[in-house]
Amino acid sequence: MTTGTKSLLFGVHQFIWHPITVWIAWIWLFRKLPTFRETVCIIVHDWGYLGKAQMDDEEGIQHPEFGAVIAGKLFGSEYYDLCLLHSRHYADRVSREPSPLCWADKLSIIFEPWWLYLPRAWVSGELFEYRANSAKTGEISILASHRNWYRHSQNVLKNIGLKKLSDVIYSTQNI
Ligand SMILES: [Fe+2]
Repeated sequence: MTTGTKSLLFGVHQFIWHPITVWIAWIWLFRKLPTFRETVCIIVHDWGYLGKAQMDDEEGIQHPEFGAVIAGKLFGSEYYDLCLLHSRHYADRVSREPSPLCWADKLSIIFEPWWLYLPRAWVSGELFEYRANSAKTGEISILASHRNWYRHSQNVLKNIGLKKLSDVIYSTQNI
């Protein structure tokens, strides 16, 4: 079984738990309930990891396409984009802005205590890929404990999400 499939079945992107945390993060971030269509996008956005050998390699980066096709067929191009551009990597590639789903996705990690996240990441094998990537970019040493690495990752992603929250508040104040 590939890492992408394991991630969806019981790993970081577990197909029930991960959407629940993203759904909560959406409310936390945008201060409103996702609509039915947005909720469907939250559910399907990572389904493209199915069958992917790695999470962040060339193939893994294309994972938003599958969910985007589903959302596009069901609800049209607005929702195609909501799913497709939930990844900053993917949005960068196509020179577009990430969609609102991207920020809720990033912030979802703050609703995951280490004891829920790390065992899933370890069993699926994602942890070793993520740790290697963080070490390669010089973000955090491979010698740091998994818990320290997770705390660091949570902080980085939380700050990205919080920056977006301040943008959202600023833009609503200026309507
Ligand atoms: Fe996600």
